[in-house]
Amino acid sequence: MKKKRALIFGVTGQDGAYLSKFLLKKKYVVYGVKRRSSIINTKRIDDIYKDINYKSNFTLLYGDLTDASSILNLIKKVNPNEVYNLAAQSHVQVSFEVPEYSADVNGLGTLRILEAIRSLNLEKKVKFYQAGTSEMFGSTKEKFQNEKTTFQPVSPYGVSKCFAHWITKNYRDAYGMFACNGILFNHESPIRGETFVTKKIIQGLIRIKQGKQKKLFLGNLYSKRDWGHAKDYVEAMWKMLQQKKPDDFVIGTGKTFTIKEFVNKASKKLNLNIKWIGKGIKEKAVNIKNKKVIIECRRRYFRPLEVDYLKGNATKAKKILKWAPKILIDNLIDEMIEHEIENSNDQH
Ligand code: NAP
Ligand code: GDD
Repeated sequence: MKKKRALIFGVTGQDGAYLSKFLLKKKYVVYGVKRRSSIINTKRIDDIYKDINYKSNFTLLYGDLTDASSILNLIKKVNPNEVYNLAAQSHVQVSFEVPEYSADVNGLGTLRILEAIRSLNLEKKVKFYQAGTSEMFGSTKEKFQNEKTTFQPVSPYGVSKCFAHWITKNYRDAYGMFACNGILFNHESPIRGETFVTKKIIQGLIRIKQGKQKKLFLGNLYSKRDWGHAKDYVEAMWKMLQQKKPDDFVIGTGKTFTIKEFVNKASKKLNLNIKWIGKGIKEKAVNIKNKKVIIECRRRYFRPLEVDYLKGNATKAKKILKWAPKILIDNLIDEMIEHEIENSNDQH
């Protein structure tokens, strides 16, 4: 049987790396789109090239979501069965600093892919996955968010992803395209970007424990997030494209924790005994053993608007996709800590 071909935009990111490995294990031929950067940006997927079982089925090609002709040429060249759009300016706070670029990549970039598929007359052949986000729920007051929860985005990132969501649905309805929106809640892993809060906390606490860093500076300690593991979430993406009908699905664990609770869990696992003192921006954590302040809050890490509360209701995915998260927060933290310690020992 002919192998399926998958084209992944955003292959160099956290999810791109997990999805590539997942699809290669399923015997796909994987084409990943990377963009030109001034230093090598393939660290997360370098191990694929070293793996004798995978390297012959894995190809990287240059492209950029801001460049329609590159997208069209890539799709023409690869002639994929499945296209996964994971590429994005994915940092919420940064989207307030570069709103137009975030809208261009995340919003119009998605349209460019859909339009390339359509103009190549592949709309009945190619299946398309769009990386939507719980950030689209924004300021909703619903306490357990599902596919019917209204989007109320509160960041340029969230707004750009709403455009991508609706244009994906529009191409599905208007042209009969097999196009699915995943509405994924936060998912992390050892290869999470270093400026996202989970990785920043774990990296910071380990460095403090090893005496390599004095303090960790954070922003809002009281927002709540539903954190899962990227490995589980890429499986859900693939499952969406294997259904008879295209549809949209919420993917989350159904559990939610504050940033402070995440810090407490991680420090306990690292045997760092901490005590919180002070309030508001002056709240800080003291290392009980040596009385030193190791965590402080800084205004620069607060956003102009915050998504206070996220908790995902993945009942539909459980029922239709037969998907459920396998890795929950405690095991996720354990894995991130283990990786970080191994990595820091390698470096020193
Ligand atoms: P990530 O680690 O930030 O990866 C983003 C990827 O997009 C990287 O490969 C990046 O390339 C690429 N990219 C950025 N701008 C591009 C452009 N102009 N053209 C082509 N590629 C570009 O994000 P992630 O955590 O893997 O998330 C994957 C997707 O899911 C994103 O769309 C994100 O918004 C969405 N999402 C993530 C979560 C989550 O919690 N992780 C939850 C919901 C939705 P470089 O490596 O060169 O920067
Ligand atoms: N990044 C960061 N850095 N966030 C902090 C910090 C800090 O120093 N201190 C507190 N936070 C709070 C943020 O204000 C936010 O409420 C929460 O920690 C999580 O922030 P991030 O880890 O940056 O993730 P996010 O929820 O904003 O966005 C991630 O999840 C979305 C899904 O809901 C990203 O992966 C998005 O791409 C994704 O769509």
